Amino acid sequence: MAWLDGRIAVVTGGAGGIGSSICEELAREGATVAVWDMDAAKAAELSAQIPRAQAYEVDVTDSAAVDRVAARVVADHGRIDTLINNAGISRVGDHTHELSDEIWEQSIGVMQTGVFYCSRAVGRVMIDQGSGTVVNISSIRGYSANPGRLAYCAAKAAVIIMTEVMAGEWGPLGIRVNAVAPGVVATGMWKEEVARGLYREQDYIDRIPSRRLAEPSEIGRLCAFLSSEECAYINGACITIDGALTRIPSG
Ligand SMILES: NC(=O)c1ccc[n+]([C@@H]2O[C@H](COP(=O)([O-])OP(=O)(O)OC[C@H]3O[C@@H](n4cnc5c(N)ncnc54)[C@H](O)[C@@H]3O)[C@@H](O)[C@H]2O)c1
Repeated sequence: MAWLDGRIAVVTGGAGGIGSSICEELAREGATVAVWDMDAAKAAELSAQIPRAQAYEVDVTDSAAVDRVAARVVADHGRIDTLINNAGISRVGDHTHELSDEIWEQSIGVMQTGVFYCSRAVGRVMIDQGSGTVVNISSIRGYSANPGRLAYCAAKAAVIIMTEVMAGEWGPLGIRVNAVAPGVVATGMWKEEVARGLYREQDYIDRIPSRRLAEPSEIGRLCAFLSSEECAYINGACITIDGALTRIPSG
């Protein structure tokens, strides 16, 4: 029996680099995946390639739209067992004194407020069921600072403490909430930052003790594990998956 047989899963930002791998790994473990993304075309394209998957267009910064799409998933599938809060944007580079209101608000909007809206909407469904799991995609930048990432780091740090608060509130109700903090993952988001000259990929590879970037599928596997009963006592944790980048002082 697979880890997630019969489960209904929601993945926000599900059409993106890490999100699509999360969808694939959850489906491989038997879940039916609702791919939530503001990029409707990419979500539809991905869903067509994954058994049982279904695309839903939603902007996670729109509270009412999030409530509506959660209700649609329940209408379509009867329940929601797993939520992966993964949607994110990279508006990085400007230092604090240069940072615009717009970039601050967009970053906090998608990666902090969006996590709240989706967790609240899906959490209500899970509380009615008396069961569920949530995995919030934070980042090593939620606890390991990086110049030019004020809003990104602020949102990712918030997600770690939000995970702990939700785990404390919902644990007695049968719901587990964990976070994942990836290091550098080879997705479009990272490639765009390299193309803009913000980082040199080889510099990172030289500093990462595992001597490579993470594969998106490795984040997906971890999300599938955290969503399963294989780890029924892991609750309120933030699991770093970074090849030990942040375990060394220069990381
Ligand atoms: N790539 C990395 O190195 C890395 C490292 C640590 C953490 N992360 C985090 O992992 C997550 C996924 O990153 P990625 O590299 O796959 O990025 P990506 O840009 O490839 O994908 C992000 C996805 O989120 C969607 N999205 C953006 N804003 C949205 C909104 N308002 N509503 C709904 N969907 C929205 C996009 O359409 C896209 O499909 C993000 O939260 C990111 O911060 C990435």
